[in-house]
Amino acid sequence: MLAPSPWTPDSWRARPALQQPEYPDPAALERVLGELRVLPPLVTSWEIVQLRELLAEAAAGRRFILQAGDCAERFVDCTSPRITNSLKVLIQMSLVLVVGAQKPVTRIGRFAGQYAKPRSASEEIRDGFSLPSYRGDIINRPEFTAAARAPDPDLLLRGYERAALTLNFIRALVKGGFADLHHPEYFDLDWVRHSSQADEYHRMASTIREGLSFMENVLGVRAGESDRIDFFAAHEALHLDYESAQTRRVPRRPGWFNLTTHFPWAGLRTNQPDGAHIEYLRGIENPIGVKVGAGFTREQVARWLDLLDPQRMPGRLTLIHRFGAQGVGDGLPRLIEAVRAEGGLALWICDPMHGNTQLTAAGVKTRCFEDIASEIEQAFDIHRAYGQRLGGVHLEVTGENVTECIGGARGQSEADLSRAYESEVDPRLNYEQSLELAFLIARKMKNGS
Ligand code: PEP
Ligand code: CO
Repeated sequence: MLAPSPWTPDSWRARPALQQPEYPDPAALERVLGELRVLPPLVTSWEIVQLRELLAEAAAGRRFILQAGDCAERFVDCTSPRITNSLKVLIQMSLVLVVGAQKPVTRIGRFAGQYAKPRSASEEIRDGFSLPSYRGDIINRPEFTAAARAPDPDLLLRGYERAALTLNFIRALVKGGFADLHHPEYFDLDWVRHSSQADEYHRMASTIREGLSFMENVLGVRAGESDRIDFFAAHEALHLDYESAQTRRVPRRPGWFNLTTHFPWAGLRTNQPDGAHIEYLRGIENPIGVKVGAGFTREQVARWLDLLDPQRMPGRLTLIHRFGAQGVGDGLPRLIEAVRAEGGLALWICDPMHGNTQLTAAGVKTRCFEDIASEIEQAFDIHRAYGQRLGGVHLEVTGENVTECIGGARGQSEADLSRAYESEVDPRLNYEQSLELAFLIARKMKNGS
């Protein structure tokens, strides 16, 4: 076990850093990092501190967190319709959840920087030919050619710029009234208007609008802040050169902030307490997440808490558990007990996606809606049985009409998958499946979880 030594934005370099690309030209990488260091930041310390407070409220049971978006953002999807569709699905899901939870919901997108992916194998072999695996658009490109798969440091700048464009558009949309609750038609999605989910959703949206008009016209109060919807950005803090290049001090606030995103998290493959990623995350002021799966040990839990949240500060640490529908019944109680034994404080978020990935007979990666729903329902019950609360969910969803996950009300089957399978990495719930899941979670919360 390594004793913590003084932290700097670069102290992670002395630790084993898994899942990092190997750039053929280190001088080119240095040049790009020099540029990244001086570009203006994407988010501010005010927003980061505000999110930490909101996460603390969720940990105390007064708020629910919806963290959702693509498994991996793609540069080609940095377009107006794609971005508006992902906002729409997040807004709609969150409104459904507000009604079920009877408490405010905070939306955190897996966006504006979710461009780097951990891979199980560093090489991909096709027809006996081996090339570096695709690691996300900020590192290399998915086509199976040597040129496309070579890590290119310029992509770090292209990714940073796209993250900025994405956030800029989201902020402008929200400020301009796109997410105004008086006008739910602004964030309606076209393609599925007539499904049963859509009817239920529309009934609920008009109840919200009527409630707002009642408050404003009859009681004479302006809903003000509460009729606008905020978004926060999150991504896996995987590519440590990228993360640390925008890790800065700010005037009049102590500490260091990662200003590429509000909420960075450590993925399952890079959550080792002695590893570079946890070393990097322990020193920043942002609220941070850690993914936890079946293989964790009590000792690891104790070390995460000591390294990442030594002061046991509410909102600082979120444990995002992803055990799978089969594993949650065993894993989650053990995790809860391990955190309790250390006097730890954590916000609990369930990721029902990553423990439920399966391959079809044809070798296509998919997930079954019913497994996803089951893991969430079990997670609510287990937290309740242990006298605490599930504070949020972490999902891979899209506003597009894709066919990547099976099941759900439309009974999407394996045979349907080839129709509109877009993801280069993990399968996402499509719009209709996402809303269906939101209704299911809302019902579960209404029934007392
Ligand atoms: C992800 O969130 O896309 C991911 C890779 O998850 P995990 O680290 O939990 O496997
Ligand atoms: Co994923």
